[in-house]
Amino acid sequence: GKIVALLVAAGSGTRAGGGLPKQYRTIAGKPMIGHAIEGLLHPRIAAVHVVIGQGQERQFADATRTYSLPEPTLGGSERHDSARRGLEAIAAQGGADIVLIHDAARPFLPSRVVDALIDGARGAGGAVPGLPVVDTLARSGDLLGDVVPRAGLIRVQTPQAFRFPAILAAHRAWKNGIATDDAQIARAAGIEVAVVEGDTMLEKLTYEADFVRAEERLAASLI
Ligand code: C5P
Repeated sequence: GKIVALLVAAGSGTRAGGGLPKQYRTIAGKPMIGHAIEGLLHPRIAAVHVVIGQGQERQFADATRTYSLPEPTLGGSERHDSARRGLEAIAAQGGADIVLIHDAARPFLPSRVVDALIDGARGAGGAVPGLPVVDTLARSGDLLGDVVPRAGLIRVQTPQAFRFPAILAAHRAWKNGIATDDAQIARAAGIEVAVVEGDTMLEKLTYEADFVRAEERLAASLI
């Protein structure tokens, strides 16, 4: 069956510095969105659809000339609006059997994770990469609050893989407000979601310091 990727890159966050949306900030001379696209150029993935922000058309074109991609889709005000619009665009272009929905803010994607997610989604219906919580978790206010037991908790990453018709229907049915990932939308629609082993390389880059660390890891060929 046909496997496609959907990269959501319509955020406008500028906390990474440089005065531009973080997906266009460069890491080792390449915009983060380029690294993210390259991670999805996997032998089993037929096409990478990208969702971009209003007014980012020019930045997107400049950053992605070297790849052959379908026309980008314009995103919405929340991540889940952007994902929904991307899924509708894929449907309008013939649909797919499996879709991997990924954040442009996670530029380094091990090929092993892609394979595990595709196999997981074929089996369960959906699959996410997860990592254990190693720090102590606690509520916070002005002062430190109660500890939240970390046993049984995981950190959920992207890409998240789903059978395409089911995740499209789940997005169309979603009415519970802001969703920070697609697996919660899937589960609300009754899709079973498997957890495969995530990777520290997949951690989201948000702040200036995250980009500095990513540059150092690339320079040291650790990625
Ligand atoms: O802001 P955050 O890092 O949580 O965003 C996760 C991903 O969702 C990013 O790749 C961002 O570009 C994307 N996004 C989007 N549309 C929005 C908000 C975020 O595509 N309205």
